[in-house]
Amino acid sequence: MATNTSLVDVPKVRVTLTVNGEHQSVLVHPMARLLDVIRQELGLTGTKEGCGEGECGACSVFLNGDLVNSCLVPILQVDGAELVTIEGISQDARWQRLQQSFVMHGGAQCGICTPGMILAAVNLLQRIPNPLEADIRQSLAGNLCRCTGYVKILDAVTQAAKAMTDES
Ligand code: FES
Ligand code: FES
Repeated sequence: MATNTSLVDVPKVRVTLTVNGEHQSVLVHPMARLLDVIRQELGLTGTKEGCGEGECGACSVFLNGDLVNSCLVPILQVDGAELVTIEGISQDARWQRLQQSFVMHGGAQCGICTPGMILAAVNLLQRIPNPLEADIRQSLAGNLCRCTGYVKILDAVTQAAKAMTDES
């Protein structure tokens, strides 16, 4: 009879990557998701899990500059990659105004969606510093929020974009 080898018996593999500008090396299960490695191995719990199926955007991170849902990324695909999480963005002075705007406009309530919302807004404002409302709506379309009704989040991104443009 065939042996049913448990997933936990699979040898771990070493993955190296740059995380928020720092070189990191982790020993992980080869079937692990990037999201789990970020939260459990790297201890960066700002990245959240909502749906776990690529539908809500709560687990968003920048991977080699692209915004991705980390719950859908197998860890073996990121060896050698450059990863930026919400912790990296929060330490970046360029985005302080955006974070302050979420606080000022009540754009965060339970906070589960907030890191993904901010990363989606960063992704937008890097490309379009002075976006139209339609640009903001489109950029946040992949991020779900069950608390705010979205209006406060739209206000936060709109006002941050205006303030950042006025300051530049
Ligand atoms: Fe990854 Fe929802 S937890 S998209
Ligand atoms: Fe709770 Fe958006 S603030 S899900």
